[in-house]
Amino acid sequence: MVDVLRHDLLIIGGGAAGLRAATAAAQLHPRLNIAIVSKVYPMRSHTVSAEGGAGGVIKSNDSLDEHIQDTISGSDWLADQDAVELFVREAPAELLQLEHWGCPWSREPDGSVAVRPFGGMQKERTWFAADKTGFHLLHTLFQTSLQFSSIRRYDEWFATRLVVENGRCQGVVAIELRTGQIRLISAGAVILATGGAGRIFPFTTNGAICTGDGMALAYRAGVPLKDMEFVQYHPTGLPGTGILITEAARGEGGILVNKDGYRYLQDYGLGPPDPWPRLRAMELGPRDKLSQCFVYEMQKGRTIQGPYGDIVYLDVRHLGEKKINEKIPFVRELARKYVGIDPVHEPIPVRPVVHYMMGGVHTDAQGATPLPGLYAAGEAACVSINGANRLGSNSLSECLVFGARAGRAAAAFAREHPAADLAALEAQSRDEERRITTTVLRAEGTERVSTLRQEMQLAMESGCGIFRDEASLQETCNRLARARGRFMRLWLDDRSRVYNTELVAALELDFMLDAAEAVAYSALARTESRGSHQRTDHPQRDDARFLKHTLAYRTGGAPRVDYLDVAITRWPPAQRVYGG
Ligand code: FUM
Repeated sequence: MVDVLRHDLLIIGGGAAGLRAATAAAQLHPRLNIAIVSKVYPMRSHTVSAEGGAGGVIKSNDSLDEHIQDTISGSDWLADQDAVELFVREAPAELLQLEHWGCPWSREPDGSVAVRPFGGMQKERTWFAADKTGFHLLHTLFQTSLQFSSIRRYDEWFATRLVVENGRCQGVVAIELRTGQIRLISAGAVILATGGAGRIFPFTTNGAICTGDGMALAYRAGVPLKDMEFVQYHPTGLPGTGILITEAARGEGGILVNKDGYRYLQDYGLGPPDPWPRLRAMELGPRDKLSQCFVYEMQKGRTIQGPYGDIVYLDVRHLGEKKINEKIPFVRELARKYVGIDPVHEPIPVRPVVHYMMGGVHTDAQGATPLPGLYAAGEAACVSINGANRLGSNSLSECLVFGARAGRAAAAFAREHPAADLAALEAQSRDEERRITTTVLRAEGTERVSTLRQEMQLAMESGCGIFRDEASLQETCNRLARARGRFMRLWLDDRSRVYNTELVAALELDFMLDAAEAVAYSALARTESRGSHQRTDHPQRDDARFLKHTLAYRTGGAPRVDYLDVAITRWPPAQRVYGG
């Protein structure tokens, strides 16, 4: 007999989307029994590393329509416009709600909330808390969640499988990492808020925990992953570590220069350098284009070769020490600690780095997936408001808007559909325990987790990076298939139960192989270039064939790829224009 933990609503992930979902559900239905399962203590969720800010219209010179237009053109017309409209309408209220819960937003001299320019935006609309916005936002959400006695937390529990019975999701199987016990947690509805999968690449801003867990859980339960081929490179990561140097550095006036000290972006249709600031131009162009320009500079031999590959410089010296300390103190701290330079006196070496997955679990605007009882929000989900390229600072707001929406919708579903048929759920839990024990923990092969993980990451980087083509993508798919085969012949040194981090790493790798496969096959099938998906063998955007979302379904072999129309409301497809 399996020991079952029972809740009404279960949220997997304790970052911004998960915590916002929990508080929204608890506020609306105080008697609902809610649980958050997180593989780390919630304040260590990846939200904590968000730096530059959260987008939302607040100033009188701005408008909802401009934010919508920026998001849609940023997405290269692949975002669902109905979802973008409601996102933009609801974001300001969410950000104000955080203010009321105690988020220390930075201020203008008159005491009003300050906003800064961000990439791809016509107006300054990024709310910020210096350059530690994620830290403050997560603290605010976490401390708010503590006031609800109906929210129970399972910190350091790792969900390994969704339990699906009678055609609906009714809970998860999870490992309590402290004891190694494998437990069934039943619920009327489950929300996946597990963040992204940046760790499928070797060089990323993402924390080690960003292993696509929620994406793989849904994918294995038959839910498609949408638009996975769209992987965002952030133009400014620190070489070596991949640590993010926030776009806020450019928003505050930082410039990008090549080995000759030349502001190279002016050569790529992103506008002349002056006067500053030129919104939607030069260093405030969209991330996909800035990352592509870096590659062009490298091909022209105008980058600088460093110990960790080619770099350009991000120069903020002209901002002066006072402004740097006030607006981007974390940039200074990171540059000093991780590359040993003080940006007050020297330019910062940077290069593009994998930052964000536009794709994720296919949901509607309530966070509902095609599997009844299963919801998703935040980076794990694809609603979609980001299309082929997300605008900087839209993601924290997305976590809030769609976290709250998913929380409310899932709570309503859970009230109508209590988890039932525990015997069937228990059988699934026993199956999962057998799988983890026999095929992973006590597997009798020779393959090491770290070797296979590196092989996957290198396959993704070499064939599925900023520029791709059919041959490189096919090679990546082949390498991933081989890695998947080798995964079946694993060997773990640690066969104990208590805090077995090697076991967790193996299960995370299993999830990452699913996410990587969905990225590579979706990219192979999309024979056009759009946003962050640049096919050198198909360099044009092809609206006639590909103004569509990709849906990747898991099969025993290569994923089945299907398509879904993009919702177009008021903004017919057009060319993206920046720098004008
Ligand atoms: O550069 C940044 O601060 C990143 C922000 C974002 O991805 O939204």
